[in-house]
Amino acid sequence: MKSRDVVIVDAIRTAFGRAGENGYFWLTRADDMAVKVIRELMRRNPAVKPEMVEENIWGATTQEGDQGLTLGRTTAILAGLPESCSGFSVDRMCAGGLTAITAAASEIALGACDIAVAGGVEHMGHHPMGATADPNPRFLAERLVSEDALVMGKTAENLHDMYPDITKEMADEYACLSQRKTAEAYRAGKIQKMIVPMSVYTREGWAVAHQDQQPRPETTMEALRDLKTPFRNQGRVTAGNSSGLNDGACGVLLMSEEKAGELGLAPKMRLVGYAFAGVRPEVMGYGPVPSTRKVFARTGLSMEQMDFVELNEAFAVQCLVFMKEFGMRIPDDERLNPLGGAIAFGHPLAASGPRLVMHLMHHFSEHPQARYGLTALCVGLGQGASAIWENLQTGDK
Ligand SMILES: CC(C)(COP(=O)(O)OP(=O)(O)OC[C@H]1O[C@@H](n2cnc3c(N)ncnc32)[C@H](O)[C@@H]1OP(=O)(O)O)[C@@H](O)C(=O)NCCC(=O)NCCS
Repeated sequence: MKSRDVVIVDAIRTAFGRAGENGYFWLTRADDMAVKVIRELMRRNPAVKPEMVEENIWGATTQEGDQGLTLGRTTAILAGLPESCSGFSVDRMCAGGLTAITAAASEIALGACDIAVAGGVEHMGHHPMGATADPNPRFLAERLVSEDALVMGKTAENLHDMYPDITKEMADEYACLSQRKTAEAYRAGKIQKMIVPMSVYTREGWAVAHQDQQPRPETTMEALRDLKTPFRNQGRVTAGNSSGLNDGACGVLLMSEEKAGELGLAPKMRLVGYAFAGVRPEVMGYGPVPSTRKVFARTGLSMEQMDFVELNEAFAVQCLVFMKEFGMRIPDDERLNPLGGAIAFGHPLAASGPRLVMHLMHHFSEHPQARYGLTALCVGLGQGASAIWENLQTGDK
């Protein structure tokens, strides 16, 4: 079967809340957050009738409770998609949402369906990282992985060890910059457009979750300097140069380029290629380096050809390693995360990949001359995920 071009038509997310009792979403179910996203995608795209959506794929790291029972199927039913719409859930931890997108794209490319919704949701308040996991004792007993591999902050400390020239000061500077870029993007009204406000019941009564709770626009180098290093005594990784613990959902609407044309929809970008790669679990933040090299090798493209890079900021050190490996300007390469990243917005694990895709769509709309962009994430237990996209918002369509 001949492969078909796959395009993204739209993307939207909920606000990202802080995980825990003081977060917006503490009393809100994770599946309802995904449903809100699906419904909003349908509302914004009336040319796509519910019966045209054939597949609904969602990433979530913890697949139980309000994230259990195959989210792709449950949220399709709850969102009012017809029973004919199939669905499933995937888990590749932080890249779960990006994997949902590449899975949907692969189905469309091979002609298994024409239109799909794909996204990621994570309620880290209801499902603290790893809380109910039961890692096989062989991991440690047989030294298959080091103990550090199971604590993401420790893997970031290990990455600092691996790159001794990347200092804590550099990580703090990177974090400050991320916060500043996000504050500017909020001031310019760029982020609000990407968030669907959601009514939520909180301990103070009803409220509307309409903007992220994590950003700290007031961040200064002085304040970051004195923060505790919770993962290692005298370490370099702090709450200030790490992503946070968050609740959120983000999803995209994908279809074949042909179908978008038939429906009179303006596709925003085309998937050029994607790749995943494995690395040593105890330095999982290195993952995007080999996965990006792999996707470049497979597509024949290079970093020089990327007009934008949306890299998930699990930890500042991991972004600096990526920038160094690809010869990008440190700490600020204007192609990388122009609106800031997960250090400011927060990182509800599986929701982050679709957010990167949505940010790239935004950059492409503002820069019609841009041609290619990359979205990439590191993944717990040592993986990288990378996807390359081509801008279709070039003004000559
Ligand atoms: C690092 C981590 C442990 C911090 O958790 P936390 O202690 O609940 O974080 P907080 O937001 O309460 O911040 C801790 C302190 O730093 C301060 N702080 C955080 N960011 C700051 C900033 N930008 N500027 C100034 N102070 C800041 C807080 O005010 C708080 O101070 P306090 O202790 O005096 O109240 C947690 O965010 C974490 O585990 N992050 C990584 C998540 C992860 O692994 N994701 C997967 C990636 S693969």
